[in-house]
This record gives sequence, structure tokens and C-alpha cells, in this order.
Amino acid sequence: MKRILHVIASPRGDASRTLRVSRAFLGALRERHPACDIDELNVWTDEIPALTVPVVRGKYVLMGGGDLDGPLGELWAGVIRHIERFLSADAWLVSTPMWNFNIPYRLKQYIDVIVQPKYLFRYTATGVEGLAGGRRMVVVASRGGDYRPGTPFHPFDMQEPYLRTVFGFVGVTDITFIVAQPMDASGPEVAEEEIRKAQALARETALSF
Ligand SMILES: Cc1cc2nc3c(=O)[nH]c(=O)nc-3n(C[C@H](O)[C@H](O)[C@H](O)COP(=O)(O)O)c2cc1C
Repeated sequence: MKRILHVIASPRGDASRTLRVSRAFLGALRERHPACDIDELNVWTDEIPALTVPVVRGKYVLMGGGDLDGPLGELWAGVIRHIERFLSADAWLVSTPMWNFNIPYRLKQYIDVIVQPKYLFRYTATGVEGLAGGRRMVVVASRGGDYRPGTPFHPFDMQEPYLRTVFGFVGVTDITFIVAQPMDASGPEVAEEEIRKAQALARETALSF
């Protein structure tokens, strides 16, 4: 593996519990693939284009089978850069906290930017075809509460189903979730223990790459 794109969606830097787990994954991955380039994209500090009315117009041009040239092409330069950066990775690591049962809005904005017809999916006579398949994704998530199957809050988890759906739509179906939970609801000792468990799973997952 030559290149992994690490999409960071926690704004909390060193205080981030999600990133503590992701660092365990990346440490083990570096040991296994010392030459692997880790491309870090922080959705809070990197430029993510806004989906303004003319940018959205471009999406409909593409859906109609047209090309983006002239001023629309220029307007889309930032979108295309993000798409190319996403597609040039051999694997993806997404580090995201749960925010209001789903993902932080800046990660949603990034997904809205890159999921474009012609580039990440296309319509065919037999249905939608995802164009980003054949590679693995790891999602490291952390949550204040506990959303495991069998818990009362499990039906509130819109994060894992959403990410599986949207990335599955573009062909990324091999997704491993590593979740640290509960981070806030049961106190710091439980949180530390769950982080340790998630870190162990993260290291084990990295060894399968
Ligand atoms: C804006 C915001 C919304 C949150 N919403 C939820 C939520 O819906 N469910 C939950 O369990 N935790 C929620 N949390 C708590 C975080 O998911 C939890 O603290 C997580 O570990 C933070 O990850 P981080 O340390 O990597 O930033 C929320 C936190 C913030 C800041």
C-alpha cells in the first residue's frame, strides 16, 4: 500500500479521543508499511468548497452527461482537487466523533463535495455504479454514549448506517468500523478502558492491511 488518506473530522486535536484510536491504527500501519504516505486532510482547517448555487448547478450539468468548462469548470477546480485526492488513495481512514447521532457537519460538507456523478458514481442502464471500489476504508469513531446493538440507544445511531450507505453508494463496501464508546456517559475510567480496547482493535486491523 502506497498511500492512505486520513480524513480527520474531530476539531479537538490532541484532546480528541477519536484520534487517540486513529494514532494506534496509523502507528501499526507505519510499522507494517514503512514507505506508506499518510495524507492528512483535516475538514476543520483544510479548505472545503462551499456548495453554492453555481457549484450545485455543475452537479446537474454532470448528471445530464455534460462537461464542466469555462467559468463553471474554474468554479469546480477545488471540488475536482478533492475528488482526485480522494480517488488517488489506496485506502481511507476516516476519524469522526458522533455529533447529534451522525457525523460533524464539516465531514458531511466534504462528502457532499466529493460524491459527484462521473467521478464517484455513474448511472447505467442497470442502476447506479460506484466508481471508487476495490479498496478498504477504516472508520474510527467515538461517541459520548453507547450505541451498541442491544442497547436502548442503538436505533439512534445514524452515523454508521449513513457512512456505510454513502460510501457503499460510490463502491466502497469494505468498511471496518472501530468505535470507542461510551466516552462521556459512564465516566472517565470506562472511557479509558474503551479507548484501550478500540486501540487494540485498531492495531489488529492495521496488521490486516
Ligand atoms: C456538537 C457535539 C454533538 C455531540 N453529539 C453527540 C451525540 O449525538 N451522541 C453522543 O453519544 N455523543 C455526542 N457528542 C459527544 C462526542 O461524540 C464524544 O465526546 C466524542 O468522544 C468526541 O470525540 P473527539 O474527542 O474525538 O472530539 C457530541 C459532542 C459534540 C461536541
